[in-house]
Amino acid sequence: MLVAHVSDIHIGGSKQSVERAMRVRDYLNGLPTPVDAVVVTGDIADHGLVEEYEIAREAMRYAAPTLVCPGNHDSRPEFRKVLLDHVGRDGAGPVNQTLRIDGLTILLCDSSIPGRHDGHLDDATIDWLESELARAQGPVFVGMHHPPIALGLPSVDAIRLNHPERLERVLRRHDQVKAVLVGHAHTAASAVFAGLPLVVAPGVVSTLMMPSELVLPEEWSEDDALDFERPPAFVLHVFDGERLVSHTRVVL
Ligand SMILES: [Fe+2]
Repeated sequence: MLVAHVSDIHIGGSKQSVERAMRVRDYLNGLPTPVDAVVVTGDIADHGLVEEYEIAREAMRYAAPTLVCPGNHDSRPEFRKVLLDHVGRDGAGPVNQTLRIDGLTILLCDSSIPGRHDGHLDDATIDWLESELARAQGPVFVGMHHPPIALGLPSVDAIRLNHPERLERVLRRHDQVKAVLVGHAHTAASAVFAGLPLVVAPGVVSTLMMPSELVLPEEWSEDDALDFERPPAFVLHVFDGERLVSHTRVVL
């Protein structure tokens, strides 16, 4: 099974954001053998605007079942309205969603906090995750926007998932979870969390450089550490039902 993992397209976040997101989409849709699913781990619209989501909807029109969660740049009501067509539902609550595909269950949690950049899984989301895991048959990937650990990148480490022990407790209770997929950091990275592979997808819109790669002014902001020229990339997860192998693919 092949799952594409795309993240941080940030439509409206740079003048190349649309072209880059569409380049990744076209690469995926042009594969001689299509992927089985696409997961997009947040930061879809840079300013959370309806117009940005309308463009994003086209830029994420993948030829495979697709699941998308919000990130810290997203706005739940607009996200729902354009991407999920959730008319009439409570627009402000967390957007938690499930995709079942060929025996694999993908659970995408909403780790965004309206008006803030750090992440949190609220009680409703933790309860939802517990109940979805309790009824899942077979292996599960759990995804969200915010990494639950520090990555050695000061600007995102300061706004990572808070209280990660809440997530860890749930994951350790369910041994059918095989991977945790996140975004937010705009760099391809991997680690272990709760005894599971933790894969951070690179950002499509930009790449966040490490402090040791840059000469930064004394007073620096995240923007000084973002490289908008490096090409967009995403991850291809090969999964055999037990083991995950993750290939990062740059799209020129
Ligand atoms: Fe982002």
